[in-house]
Amino acid sequence: MFKNRDIISMADFSREEIDHILDVAEMVEKNPTDYNNLLNNKIMALLFFEPSTRTRMSFESAMYRFGGKCIDLGPIDASSLKKGESFTDTIKVVSRYADLMVIRHPADGVARYVSEIVDIPIINGGDGTGQHPTQTLLDLFTLKKENKLERVNIGIVGDLKYSRTVHSLVYALTLYDVEMTFIYPPSLRLPDGIIEYLVKNKIKYKECNDIEEVIEDIDVLYVTRIQQERFPDVSEYYAVSDSYKITKNLLESKAKDDLILLHPLPKKNEIEKELDETHYAKYFLQVEYGIYVRMALLGLIMGAFE
Ligand code: NCD
Repeated sequence: MFKNRDIISMADFSREEIDHILDVAEMVEKNPTDYNNLLNNKIMALLFFEPSTRTRMSFESAMYRFGGKCIDLGPIDASSLKKGESFTDTIKVVSRYADLMVIRHPADGVARYVSEIVDIPIINGGDGTGQHPTQTLLDLFTLKKENKLERVNIGIVGDLKYSRTVHSLVYALTLYDVEMTFIYPPSLRLPDGIIEYLVKNKIKYKECNDIEEVIEDIDVLYVTRIQQERFPDVSEYYAVSDSYKITKNLLESKAKDDLILLHPLPKKNEIEKELDETHYAKYFLQVEYGIYVRMALLGLIMGAFE
């Protein structure tokens, strides 16, 4: 079902397919060292045209845990792109050095384009404000492990306009029995295309601008960083940069005691630091789960897992 498959957008996956990936991730999590030689002779190419810590390093770590190897285009200035080679030529060349490719790029749609011009499987590590499907799979894995993937109210807070992690997550959550509540400063609403998708598919959702109005009903709070680098005008960024902050006081006084806080990271000032050590915070656990989910994906795409 997954051999040689591209991972570009969550909209490409059925509920059954997503659940299968999560099941395989859970199998890997149980005995992660059972698969030391699974991808012994495989090579993964990493092409990151935007900064990354987690996505890049967790894919590398996942590949090494299977005995596979990684090659990395490195900074653009150190590649032949600097000499004027076209993006397309660079991609075609690298695709002949590796068995699969992970790409991150500032422009929406680039991962899809790359998947159309090469023969090896492509994993979208984030394309502009488009999608970030592997982050969504680890978000779903965390929800499943925390028993919060069915009959819960998931509040998604912050920069819903530019966060690609939110865009992929919303598509995926439409396949589950959850309520979605979108909480955002007025200028950072979800893109029209996603709202239209929700309406067309008769998915119920709530929207508000003030978290205090809805916090009592929320089971999962998915917090996002305001995506400063995507704003066409820096003054628009400063107009919203301090517009929300999740504090310990807010959660302790108003939220359900078993609310969980998720965040794709990196975080800036949107979550009060004091919350890191509380039972609400699950974002560092998400990071750990990212390894199992990416191991599952690599094993499935390379045909080593069924
Ligand atoms: C996110 C991204 O790159 O979209 N980071 C990640 O991969 N976990 C989120 C962000 O940058 O805010």
